[in-house]
Amino acid sequence: MQPFIVNGQSHNVDVEPDTPLLWVLRDTLGMTGTKYGCGIAQCGACTVHVNGVATRSCSVQAFRRGRQNRSPPSRDLPPTACCTRCNMSWLEHDVPQCGYCQSGMIMAVADLLKNKPKPTDGRH
Ligand code: FES
Repeated sequence: MQPFIVNGQSHNVDVEPDTPLLWVLRDTLGMTGTKYGCGIAQCGACTVHVNGVATRSCSVQAFRRGRQNRSPPSRDLPPTACCTRCNMSWLEHDVPQCGYCQSGMIMAVADLLKNKPKPTDGRH
């Protein structure tokens, strides 16, 4: 058993150290809001925040020293203020299509807005 912190809560999980973060969140902790898409860090459906940085959870190991994870908001955990604003904008602009990858997209947008509060279509 190893301590594993998600959304500020410590969990004891019993998995191999090289288990991808995605599977610890989904299979071990039951946080199915984090989705599996491509499995090769390309689609973004599995994006979560690791130590405050948007990370493709399918392609990183669950255990590294000092890691803190934040999954997409789930029903039993309060969402962060930024994620709440993203969620509201998502609805206001009718962003969801099939909805499968939107939790990962919201996590990516929250990270973008944290680092660049007024993004543009330009590269810089
Ligand atoms: S499942 Fe596609 S990037 Fe992780």
